[in-house]
Amino acid sequence: MTSIIRFQNVTKRFGALTVLDNFNFEVQQGEKVTLIGPSGSGKSTVLRILMTLEPFQEGKLELAGLSYHEPNGRGTFKASEKHLHKIRSNVGMVFQSFNLFPHMTVMRNIVEAPIAVLNMKRDEAETRATELLRMVGLLDKKDHYPSQLSGGQQQRVAIARALAMRPRVLLFDEPTSALDPQLVGEVLGVIRDLAREHDLTMLLVTHEMRFAREVSDRVCFFDKGRIVEQGEPEKFFTNPEQPRTREFLSSILNT
Ligand SMILES: Nc1ncnc2c1ncn2[C@@H]1O[C@H](COP(=O)(O)OP(=O)(O)OP(=O)(O)O)[C@@H](O)[C@H]1O
Ligand SMILES: [Mg+2]
Repeated sequence: MTSIIRFQNVTKRFGALTVLDNFNFEVQQGEKVTLIGPSGSGKSTVLRILMTLEPFQEGKLELAGLSYHEPNGRGTFKASEKHLHKIRSNVGMVFQSFNLFPHMTVMRNIVEAPIAVLNMKRDEAETRATELLRMVGLLDKKDHYPSQLSGGQQQRVAIARALAMRPRVLLFDEPTSALDPQLVGEVLGVIRDLAREHDLTMLLVTHEMRFAREVSDRVCFFDKGRIVEQGEPEKFFTNPEQPRTREFLSSILNT
């Protein structure tokens, strides 16, 4: 097995606040990993760094063999925009708040980036988008605008849009937290189906523990910028070793 994501002693600060302190974390190709942990512990920061939306100060990070820093004589410096662009072609992200383009139809939301960034022909992009919309059960909404869709439908479009770029790694940041409870199931269903794709590497931040248990190969409990405990879901949820993990699980399972 090869690591597709590798954080080595990564330190991330926002001013005086250290969010990641010598963070080490690896994900294998095709692995489905969930990150759980208290608010403010740095989960979104981990995903945002991977997505090149946040720089970091120290350490090394690689995705699909590409380093986020390019070497120079005196250690490392931030990679060029061109190099970051190459990294981004391997990774997609689904946000809590969907982030669809409001002035574009569902179809255009999905084909825009493949055409502009991957230089895909419109026909080909639309064929692929049609397949993806069928997969998420929304082909009949292809000419609608985001404001004409429910939250669950918007999030399913956002997933199709991320997949249209054919990422090797897909990141999910609390993809169901902004949804009304009755819409959560349809989005989790789509993600659950995706998790059966063996080549796709998935890293999910979620508060849906039952779902985490079902889809993940590994669950990581993250607190104060480090992984406190990790393991395969069955063992992790039934018999966690660390007192801090037990405390966290009982606090969320009782709410
Ligand atoms: N742009 C920023 N500027 C300053 N501080 C930030 C910034 N983004 C995040 N932080 C801080 O970094 C810490 C980690 O934030 P992060 O969003 O990664 O937490 P999280 O684990 O995703 O929390 P939640 O479960 O609430 O989403 C928090 O203390 C947050 O206030
Ligand atoms: Mg977050």
